[in-house]
Amino acid sequence: MRRIYLDNNATTQIATEVVEAMLPCFRESYGNASSVHWYGQEAKALMDKGRQQVATFLHAEPNEIVFTSGGTESDNLAIRGIVESVPGTGKHVITSQIEHHAVLHACQMLQKLGIKVTYAPVDAEGLVDPAEIEKSITPETVLISIMHSNNEIGTIQPVQEIGAIARARDIYFHTDAVQAAGKVPLDVEQMGVDLLSIAGHKFHAPKGVGALYIKKGTKIRPLLYGGAHERNRRAGTESIPHIVALGRAAELAMTEMENNTRRILELRDYCETEILRRVPHTFLNGSRTRRIPNTANIRFDQVESEALLINLDLAGVACSTGSACASGSIEPSHVLTALGLPPEQAFSSVRFSLSKFTTREEIDHVLNLLPEMVERLREKSPQHNKSFVMHAE
Ligand SMILES: Cc1ncc(COP(=O)(O)O)c(C=O)c1O
Repeated sequence: MRRIYLDNNATTQIATEVVEAMLPCFRESYGNASSVHWYGQEAKALMDKGRQQVATFLHAEPNEIVFTSGGTESDNLAIRGIVESVPGTGKHVITSQIEHHAVLHACQMLQKLGIKVTYAPVDAEGLVDPAEIEKSITPETVLISIMHSNNEIGTIQPVQEIGAIARARDIYFHTDAVQAAGKVPLDVEQMGVDLLSIAGHKFHAPKGVGALYIKKGTKIRPLLYGGAHERNRRAGTESIPHIVALGRAAELAMTEMENNTRRILELRDYCETEILRRVPHTFLNGSRTRRIPNTANIRFDQVESEALLINLDLAGVACSTGSACASGSIEPSHVLTALGLPPEQAFSSVRFSLSKFTTREEIDHVLNLLPEMVERLREKSPQHNKSFVMHAE
């Protein structure tokens, strides 16, 4: 059966160039980057190159890049690492209601330790109001953590404005840019961030590698204790194949970004416009304009999204209801709920996320399947309302 992958916010296909860059690290260049001999030096040179590539990608300096196992670790290191390194009691953190669970659950853990956390609301498009963040600041605020782009709806936050507020108040600012990396340009200086998380598998590198940008001079307490790797910020022998892959993926993303963005944006807009046109009672969730180019989160009223996903999967089409980490959850999406959607609408929303590998033909195939599939599901739906369907015709 023909298979179409439209779940690129969950993870992406590894680019051939990335696989090719990694392969020699398994059989030939397998040294430990901390060893003094030739093998070690070779591994260190590969690691240095990867670090330089990631630094260039983020407009940072190589010493400001710490390699991690992915987005979750980067977020945890940023949040716990900063909060635990700042002395004093009664500390306060500001984040938003629509963060990824890697941030939300790290913050909830801090609350158990007595740290106060403010979860800033978002508007109907999923945007945080910088004035709201500013109002939430107290003399105890040590960290603001607001994501760059949302994984479910793709909304891009006013990171630069929040960065300026944080800087003026001398408060650390972290952004989770896991969904932004490879999709929009990232410049840590311009955004005014002190910490920024990325994960390789969201932009055509393998799972199990990510990075945290830590601005020069920022004190951070590590999550892991052991050797002096990563300048004492992340102990453990570095995985050279993964680092090489992350560096190569970052380099590719930079050179291809302009072309890819144009193509993906065009395809995404085509896909979205046609779904909204061909399938009655469908709506876009989140912001139409302030959005990463590959994401469309669409509500199919009176359709259970899980049923739609299963039917799409049976037809060879992979997409999702939102966060891959929360799938199977019986709770409605915390992101869609924060936008103000009632549970039944949150439960009827599907995320389509494209990549550079998505083709117009694939989108056409999905567009041809969807109207009939949705109609069939609506007829079977317990909340089905005949006049609702008839009106749509
Ligand atoms: C916005 C965001 N942050 C963090 C993560 C966690 O990244 P990882 O799966 O690499 O741990 C994800 C993954 O879905 C994400 O979308």
